[in-house]
Formats: sequence, C-alpha cells, structure tokens
Amino acid sequence: MDAISTESLTKHYHVGFWRPRPYLALDGLSLSVRQGEVFGFLGPNGAGKTTTLKLLMQLIYPTSGRAEILGKPVGDVGVKRRIGYLPENPYFYDHLTAEELLEYFAGLFGYSGQDRRRRIEMLLDEVGIGPERRLQLRKFSKGMLQRVGIAQSLINDPEVVFFDEPMSGLDPLGRREIRHLILKLRDRGCTVFFSSHVLSDAETLCSRVAVLAGGRLVAAGDLSELLAFQVRGWEIVVVGLTDSDLEKLKTDGVVTHAIPLGPQRFALDLPLTVEPARLATSLTAQGVQLVSINPVRETLEDFFVRQIGTAPKDRGLGTVAR
Ligand SMILES: Nc1ncnc2c1ncn2[C@@H]1O[C@H](COP(=O)(O)OP(=O)(O)O)[C@@H](O)[C@H]1O
Ligand SMILES: [Mg+2]
Repeated sequence: MDAISTESLTKHYHVGFWRPRPYLALDGLSLSVRQGEVFGFLGPNGAGKTTTLKLLMQLIYPTSGRAEILGKPVGDVGVKRRIGYLPENPYFYDHLTAEELLEYFAGLFGYSGQDRRRRIEMLLDEVGIGPERRLQLRKFSKGMLQRVGIAQSLINDPEVVFFDEPMSGLDPLGRREIRHLILKLRDRGCTVFFSSHVLSDAETLCSRVAVLAGGRLVAAGDLSELLAFQVRGWEIVVVGLTDSDLEKLKTDGVVTHAIPLGPQRFALDLPLTVEPARLATSLTAQGVQLVSINPVRETLEDFFVRQIGTAPKDRGLGTVAR
C-alpha cells in the first residue's frame, strides 16, 4: 500500500469576476509515494504544489481525478487522525502562546493531563522552541512560527506528514534543523511529503522527487537517476597547454570553454561529442599532462530551469485545447 497516491488529479480555479473562466492549476497529476520515504514535491512558484496539498487535505475539492492516503480516499475520517499538515505560511491565533496553541491541538486529538503536557514539552524541544514557548505567538518571527507549525503538525504522532514549504522563512541554521527533524521523522518510519521551490532542500533529503511545472508533472523518480540522466559534457584539467594550442582546440570546437588555473594549467569544458579518452591521447602526444577527467552532469537546478523553460505558459482552458 502506498502512503499517498493520486490519479489524474485536476483542479481548475475560476478566475475573473464578471466573466469567470477556468484556470488550470493542476493538470492530471498521477503520483505515488511509498511508505517511509521522504518525498520532495518540487517546482517553481505557481507550479501547483500548494493546490495539490490542499486537495490532499480536502481544503479544496478536485475538478476531477482522485487521491488516496494510506489506501483510503482522502477525507476518510480514520485517516485524518493518522496524518499531519503544515500549511504554507501557517497562521495561528496570535494571542495564544506556543504552549497554549499546542494544548488546543492536543486536546482536539484527545490528549489530556500529564500525557498532553509531556507531549507538548517534547515537541517544542524537538523543533527548537526554548523558553519563548511561554510568549504570545504575535512576538514570534516567521521562522519561529514555522517551527510551531511543524510541532502542531506532529501533535498526533502522524504516520504521514504533509509539509508545504517547511524551510521557507528560515535562515540556513534553521533550515538545517528542519532537515535534521525530517530525517528523524523518517527514521521513526514516518512518511514525509514536502513541497519546496528550493532544490538544495531536496537534494540532501529525498529519496524520490516529483517536479511540477505549470500544473503538470514534468519528472518523477529517484533523485540519483534524474541527476544522472544527463551527462552534458566533460571537464578536464590539463597542465602544459600553450595558449596557441588552446586557441586551436577552441577553433576546432573541441573545447567550448577554458578557465585558466595557473601557468599553462587549465580547466577545459568539452562537449559531449568529444571523446575524452581520444583527446587525452592526442594531448599527451603533444606533451600536455592530463590531471583529471570528469563528466559534467546536469544539476537539479539546471533540470528545473530547463523544465520550466518548456512548461506551457498559458493555462486558460479556453485557449489551450486539452
Ligand atoms: N484560489 C485561487 N484562485 C485562482 N487561482 C489560484 C488560486 N490558488 C492558486 N491559484 C493559481 O494556481 C496556480 C498554482 O498555485 P499554487 O498551487 O499556490 O502553486 P505553488 O504552491 O506551486 O506556488 C498559480 O498560478 C496560482 O496563481
Ligand atoms: Mg505554494
């Protein structure tokens, strides 16, 4: 059984006041997330990530398609008790203290007395809220509120958590702490589904990712495979290359870019069409020493940019036939 699965999940919003027209925010998303994995739901702003999470939480309803959590249709009451949700930019009643807020949520899940107090202490420790837990939330920074939001989402010891941009508003240290927390959740067997427009968050955390652009799934799978799937060329480092030899390599199209590293020492970019071993042989024959050869792979950042570049821009249903 998958932790999360969606099938052709689609959402149109109606935009425009006088003549409302449908706007396709999510276009036929089919996805499955296995139990116990940290799954990164990636995409630039406006890709449809929040829309998807809201659909999974039943804060909004799909135009078509369906979604299941832990093998049950979303909205199943039994399942709601087993999941946690951190909304994007969480907003809380800000006259409450962090402790009071969590007491309220813990109460909703039936925790009481000593048990409730212990649980709240532990969660606030876990997300790194210290003595400030006795302050009203309106005195909290964005990053602190984000942590309170995460504590809130974990109050019922969920099996699956949904985090919408959990690192947003956090400084580098805060991001690292949240990453650490996500890994701890994973180690206890919790499935973590989180959205982000920041790729480095995913690269260090996720086993698998989905990339969304313009409301459509543009890639999904193992992060290592996605990164590996394109070697764009080679980078070699050489010593003993004269300027005139370099010029010749450039005019022959063998070298696309050269970075001087020292006297007669260069890092050279070669296109994919150049066979590095053959080039190495001919360079060695000219007395040039080869220090290293490395494949240049696409980073997730490049991948992202390329996908966005090709994503459909116009999602007005009237103009795009589907
Ligand atoms: N309530 C709404 N009404 C109309 N359009 C919306 C609404 N919510 C989101 N959108 C649009 O749907 C698209 C996807 O938004 P969203 O799911 O918030 O993206 P993301 O979370 O990836 O940044 C965006 O173009 C956004 O402007
Ligand atoms: Mg969003």
